[in-house]
Formats: sequence, C-alpha cells, structure tokens
Amino acid sequence: MGVIGLGMGRGHARGYHSHPQADLVAICDMDVGRLQEVQSELDVPRIYTDAEKMFCAEELDGVSIAVPNKYHAPLTIAALKHGLHVLCEKPMAMTVKEAERMNAAATKASRSLMINFSFRFTEAAYALKQQVDAGVVGDIYFGRSVWHRRRGIPRFGGWFGIKELSGGGALIDLGVHRLDLALWLMGYPEPVTVTGSTYDRIAQPLAKKERKQFDVEDLACGLVKFANGATLILEAS
Ligand SMILES: NC(=O)c1ccc[n+]([C@@H]2O[C@H](COP(=O)([O-])OP(=O)(O)OC[C@H]3O[C@@H](n4cnc5c(N)ncnc54)[C@H](O)[C@@H]3O)[C@@H](O)[C@H]2O)c1
Repeated sequence: MGVIGLGMGRGHARGYHSHPQADLVAICDMDVGRLQEVQSELDVPRIYTDAEKMFCAEELDGVSIAVPNKYHAPLTIAALKHGLHVLCEKPMAMTVKEAERMNAAATKASRSLMINFSFRFTEAAYALKQQVDAGVVGDIYFGRSVWHRRRGIPRFGGWFGIKELSGGGALIDLGVHRLDLALWLMGYPEPVTVTGSTYDRIAQPLAKKERKQFDVEDLACGLVKFANGATLILEAS
C-alpha cells in the first residue's frame, strides 16, 4: 500500500503499518518534513513528493488519498488508471461531476474505490445499523442529523476555509459524514427535493479582523424530501 498526504493520511499509514495483511511500502507528500517524520516513525521503505512518480516506480496494490479536497478527483483517477484500488478521504470530491468521473474511472479499471466515511465504523453507528436492519426501529420516515462544532474553526485560515481548495465549508467537511450516516441508516431513499441555506456570519468578520481567507459557509442547514415520503433535516456548522 501507499499513502498520499500525511495529515489525516498518517492515520491510514499507521493502520497499514500495523495490519498483518498489509505492507506499507511508500508514502507521498509535498511536505518533506512530514514525509521524513512518518518515514522514521513507521520505517517506510520509500518516500515521494510526486504521486505520479510513486505510481510509476512502485508496484502498489492500493493507495490512500488524504490530500485537500481539490486533489481527490485527479489523484484518484490517476491511481485507478495505474490499476490501483483507492481509499479516498471524504468528501469524495468537490462536485458531482468530479465524483461521477471517479466512479467511471473505477468501473473502467475494475478496481475498488472507497470513500473514508469513517463514522460508519464506529461502534455506535454499527450497532444502530444492525438494529435498523433487524427492523427494531421500523420504517425510518424522519431523520435529523447534526454536527455543530461549538469551539471554533480548527486551523482557521488554512485550506479548509478556501473554496477553491475545499469546495465548501461545514457542509462538505462535517455534513458529509452526517449525510452519509443518515442515508445509510435510512436505506438510501431516492431524494426528490432539497432546499437549504448557508451562512458565514460568524466566520466572515473574524476572517476580516484576523486578515485570513475564509470564503466558505460556517453554517449550513437543509431539508431533503424523499420519494418514499421520508424527510431528513441536516445541519452542519
Ligand atoms: N475521515 C475523517 O474523519 C477526516 C478527518 C480529517 C480530514 N479528513 C480529510 O482528509 C483530507 C486531508 O485533510 P488533512 O486534515 O489531513 O489536511 P492537511 O492539510 O493536514 O494534510 C494534507 C497533506 O496533503 C499534502 N498534499 C497536498 N497536495 C498534495 C499532492 N498533490 N500530492 C502529495 N501531497 C499533497 C500536504 O502537504 C499535507 O501534508 C481532506 O480531504 C479531509 O477532508 C477526513
């Protein structure tokens, strides 16, 4: 396995390193300091600052992609073209079109493409899903899924708040986890209408004051209606 991007990707690297059926043979990051830190922590044989070079030089079975959202689609598609299975961080992509291209590339290459919706693997979510599947809670006709981060915006001024790199704010960053869990538990009903609002009233004045770039929303809320009559309320901030 290889890993690209060593922020969150450090966790992927540690996972592969400790797994008895995996070998972590290469890591890639543009930040040489991070590369060296992870290489010495996990004793990784080879390091790269360019993903394409890693794809060409290594005989990888699969790769984790944990870079800023803007690069999810191009790096995933490149990895699939090299015949690799891909575990890509959430959000899948910045736009639906990008996500569709990623899916098409996976189909064409006959390789697996998985998005790291890590909350599905928490004990609480897993237990709830088992209960839902066993019919314990009956039909789910209403859902409300919320992630409110009340203690500020982590790494304020970084790429998460720059639309060109992230694709959006709280909704694409935190809301995707909650939307994924809700749809999974509700059995993927077909959406019919979606309405929502986004706001940036807390982050904007703060960004101005601190002279930082922040051009995404800090609060998003939405209402999704499904063909089976169910409704989902989603909030992320
Ligand atoms: N599943 C989760 O709960 C979870 C949690 C945190 C972050 N994430 C996701 O992980 C991704 C990365 O977030 P992060 O917090 O680690 O960000 P980060 O900025 O800490 O780390 C990203 C790393 O990618 C490197 N990088 C950027 N472009 C690159 C490229 N083209 N080639 C090689 N390396 C490149 C950077 O140098 C940096 O070290 C994001 O998509 C984020 O949404 C998911």
